[in-house]
Amino acid sequence: MSDHPNLTVLAHPLIQHKLALLRDRRTPTKDFRDLVAEIAMLMAYEVTKELPTAPVELETPLERTTGAKVAGKKLALVPILRAGLGMVEGILRLVPSARVGHIGLYRNEETLEPVDYYFKAPSAREERDFLLLDPMLATGGSAVAACATLKQAGARSIRFLCIVAAPPGVERMLRAHPDVPIYAAALDRELNAKGYILPGLGDAGDRIFGTR
Ligand code: PRP
Ligand code: URA
Repeated sequence: MSDHPNLTVLAHPLIQHKLALLRDRRTPTKDFRDLVAEIAMLMAYEVTKELPTAPVELETPLERTTGAKVAGKKLALVPILRAGLGMVEGILRLVPSARVGHIGLYRNEETLEPVDYYFKAPSAREERDFLLLDPMLATGGSAVAACATLKQAGARSIRFLCIVAAPPGVERMLRAHPDVPIYAAALDRELNAKGYILPGLGDAGDRIFGTR
């Protein structure tokens, strides 16, 4: 069995091509932001491939036929602020009816533990599949806290989409939330002493928003 039974790495060539551009230190802010949106869209395409569908009767200009439409639980996207915001637009282009929540968390630079400052999510009363979004899974502190917040609000079906994951974060998620599958574009080697992913892509929030 894999070392990380909770992790699926999405190896699609377009995702990997765009990830290489994203990692490049010379990629400017606008391109970085566009690439995050495009990778998120491709990841969403992969993780929604098992959505249930229901038959729908319709008329083409020529005759009646049966098509298919997505059925079942409604999707909710929940970005972890700030960097997760960069993943929302691309996914909404594929699933425009998805609801969007927000979880505000930042890492204390000394302790690397998450500090929460905002939470608003669509009701979990109706059966809903939550896609939690953050480009980076480093120590896992932010993702673990975000899952706990969503579960406290009633979420029972959560999947976590990140672009770059590091082993300590994947392992911490497995210990804290073994029921939450993780989908990533890459599993990187390790963290440095400041909790940055190596080789990584730097500070995702700063590169998306052009800060620092
Ligand atoms: C980054 C990133 C994750 C978190 C990952 O956010 O977007 O939320 O760090 O690290 P962890 O797995 O060790 O918790 P950051 O705290 O820099 O906030 P920002 O998005 O507002 O820049
Ligand atoms: N957050 C980031 O934005 N980048 C990292 O490498 C680790 C945490």
